Amino acid sequence: MLSGKCILIGITGGIAAYKICELIRKFKKKGADVKVVCTPNALNFVTKLTLQNLSQNEVYVEEFDVKNWKPEHISLADEADIMIIAPATANTISKIARGIADNLLTSVACAFSKKMIIAPAMNCNMWKNQAVQENINILKARGIEILEPESGFLACGYLGKGRLCSIEKIYGAVDEALNYSQILKGKKVVVTAGGTVEDIDPVRYISNYSSGKMGFAISDAAYQMGAESVLITTKNFEAPYKIIKVKSAMDMQNALNEEFDQADYIIMAAAVADYRVKEYSKQKIKKTESDNLTLELVKNPDILRSLCEKKTHQTVVGFCAESENLLQNANEKIAKKGCDFLVANDISRSDIGFSSDDNEVTILDKSGRIKKLEKASKQVIARQILEYIHG
Ligand code: C5P
Repeated sequence: MLSGKCILIGITGGIAAYKICELIRKFKKKGADVKVVCTPNALNFVTKLTLQNLSQNEVYVEEFDVKNWKPEHISLADEADIMIIAPATANTISKIARGIADNLLTSVACAFSKKMIIAPAMNCNMWKNQAVQENINILKARGIEILEPESGFLACGYLGKGRLCSIEKIYGAVDEALNYSQILKGKKVVVTAGGTVEDIDPVRYISNYSSGKMGFAISDAAYQMGAESVLITTKNFEAPYKIIKVKSAMDMQNALNEEFDQADYIIMAAAVADYRVKEYSKQKIKKTESDNLTLELVKNPDILRSLCEKKTHQTVVGFCAESENLLQNANEKIAKKGCDFLVANDISRSDIGFSSDDNEVTILDKSGRIKKLEKASKQVIARQILEYIHG
């Protein structure tokens, strides 16, 4: 239920503006107070009267239409518990990222300090534009949640990524944000993400297909649940909390050792290479006449196991990626590693796991309990994992 919550919806001038009528109805049905602020261009796609009837409130467009002593952009920002901008055009996204406040919507966004969700929608080439992508990254790094556009036929006739994500997705994100429990307040959660990179010579390396998405979703969810999140990753990622960029397994181990004592939860979602080359070649290894090249590999430390051996108050969570006998292998692994929980992934399926936006996992604990999490976005799975291990 959303009763007692004030939701501020910002609508910009994109064809998907008409879809927001349905979103307003959904929020109203759940008891929320809905306020709508539009850019003047949004009214080319949807009428003020429609939005007013659905939201049962005045619709705000003009910046200098001040009826009381408090400027509208400040009152709207103060009253709302959350602000959603959907559809968000490239223009409005870029203005908000750079702090430009040249109409009522961008001025409210500039004055807004609580949770903000932005759902972009635009032509696929505009979405790919470097300036737009840079501005999206700026917003993400400030903690603004971006609901990425989806792929499909676009109103402009193109086929590609740019379509507004579903209304259900926006509704779900708002519901989750407003009802998010701060169960991890006061806790430090350290998450690893991405595949480690083991250099062979200055141009070659050994690595794996891990995208880091699951780990990013977990560190984001922990942050949203009130934790002090620390992300140790081999991939580039922007977030409003501490990120330590590492490359190899040895780097990752050093970073983890630094963070370990103060941590309450360690979540090892990274795919750590089991082996590295025995001797890194400072010079590029030359091709020879021989048909074979032998690289001698040595074992990397099992970081998870070594952390479990020295843990005191920490809850340590491992991940395992299995292509066969998932439960049997996971059971053996939890005993071998000594971790509190093990999150098992079935990598034989192409619709979940590596690089996918979705996942389906089974969580095992050391007492033999098993919890299956049904297929869902990595964001939803991340939250469920944290809730489960927190107990
Ligand atoms: O043994 P396996 O690689 O399947 O175990 C996976 C789990 O162990 C993951 O949580 C991974 O981050 C961790 N791991 C590790 N050090 C290694 C290999 C894996 O911490 N050298």
